[in-house]
Amino acid sequence: MNSFTITTTIDLFDSMDELPAEVKELMQAAIEARDNAYAPYSKFNVGAAILLDNNEVITGSNQENAAYPSGLCAERTAIFSASVQFPNEIIETIAIAAKPKEAIDFIAISPCGSCRQVMSEYENKQEKSIRVIMEGESKSIYILSSIADLLPLKFTKESLKL
Ligand code: THU
Repeated sequence: MNSFTITTTIDLFDSMDELPAEVKELMQAAIEARDNAYAPYSKFNVGAAILLDNNEVITGSNQENAAYPSGLCAERTAIFSASVQFPNEIIETIAIAAKPKEAIDFIAISPCGSCRQVMSEYENKQEKSIRVIMEGESKSIYILSSIADLLPLKFTKESLKL
């Protein structure tokens, strides 16, 4: 048997104040979107803000539903909206911010598996990495340079040719 190791590099910032200006602005847009989330069931508000290479910022927030699986995460509302409005624009960065219902010791929001798969699709489509910035309420901010870092051994359109 052989084995191999997959490594991920995460840049860590102790607070919003440490972030480069343009990243901070995008995170602020995600925080604003988060505060307008529709999350009456989980009370776990999530916001996302996407920076396109034409400098447009597209935001999204989680949208819940009484029929629970009919709701959608913030990352997917934002990325689908970006693709609808600007189908040919490159997605540079996605910032994600979350706020649980109670103040708890909580690390940066990490996107769910379905959102990783969806973001990976657009990263593959544009053949350019999408940077991911994750915020936790009062905790460190994580920056990853690619969605692929969140989804090792990803399933892509190439997988369909196997
Ligand atoms: N949620 C997101 O919006 N993004 C994630 O990456 C994880 C979870 C939402 C879905 C649901 O509305 C609530 O958070 C609780 O799971």
